[in-house]
Amino acid sequence: ELYNFRLIRADTKVYGIIGKPVGHSKSPLLFNAAFKSVGLNAVYLHFLVDDVEKFFNTYSSPDFASGCSCTIPHKEAALKCMDEVDHIAKKIGAINNIVRRPDGKLTAFNTDYIGAITAIEDGLRGLEGAKPAPGSPLSGKLFVVLGAGGAGKSLAYGAAQKGARVVVANRTFERAKELADKVGGKSLTLSEVENFHPEEGMILANTTSVGMKPNIDQTPIPKHALKHYCLVFDAIYTPKDTRLLREAKETGAAIVYGTEMLIRQAFEQYKNFTGLPAPEELFRQLMEKHA
Ligand code: ATR
Repeated sequence: ELYNFRLIRADTKVYGIIGKPVGHSKSPLLFNAAFKSVGLNAVYLHFLVDDVEKFFNTYSSPDFASGCSCTIPHKEAALKCMDEVDHIAKKIGAINNIVRRPDGKLTAFNTDYIGAITAIEDGLRGLEGAKPAPGSPLSGKLFVVLGAGGAGKSLAYGAAQKGARVVVANRTFERAKELADKVGGKSLTLSEVENFHPEEGMILANTTSVGMKPNIDQTPIPKHALKHYCLVFDAIYTPKDTRLLREAKETGAAIVYGTEMLIRQAFEQYKNFTGLPAPEELFRQLMEKHA
């Protein structure tokens, strides 16, 4: 699947993903196939970047880079180089999607939280049956976020914006408290979550790395505590079927895979880059094929 270099001209739009490491990213695969599918004269590359500030200063020409995705470790530092940042992304303090406007200015978004929240909302709509209520199904729900890092912030701000009552639980309590205070929620230590069930039908979102490859036998919350949740989401996608999700399924909860957040955040990036709807089926097929 080589690029067709003969089609690259001065007006070819250049997109890419900046990160370190970046070689493992499947984004070029997805976006190049998507551009080709609609005949867009655009390419999407891997940019291995050490110093994100230098990168944006060097490539400040409005002709270079129509947009970028941004991954570890640059999601926070890149925010400072932007002309405009979406207000939720600003609160989260991290961006992963940068679009160059026609006037050359850089506008940034965080599509991670949109990917996770829309996946959870659709999971809840599935539980509501054929005729879901209007508005967000997260509204008024008790939403427990495990972890207070970058992904924890995305889930906590995203859920709060949808009207959920947010609880943040983290191994380091101070980080949980800081985040919970910002979103107007409650804070717990990770070990307190086991006995926290003020009501039934809560939603659980794991953003800690507990259960991630190679520690696939670990889980952030014991199985017996899962019976109080109607839906469990795990941001971990290696492995796809984490112990947490397996046990949640066995307990009878609906589950939402981390891979769903991953693919939906890419849909949002594509929409922001091109103004077009994402070729969702194509993205899903490619992710499956190259899993
Ligand atoms: P990310 O950006 O993916 O959220 P991060 O900012 O490094 O990553 O955050 C990792 C999260 O996983 C944190 O909430 C961390 O808890 P601490 O704040 O106490 O460090 C949590 N975490 C990582 N390893 C953990 C473990 N073994 N047990 C419990 N929590 C863990």
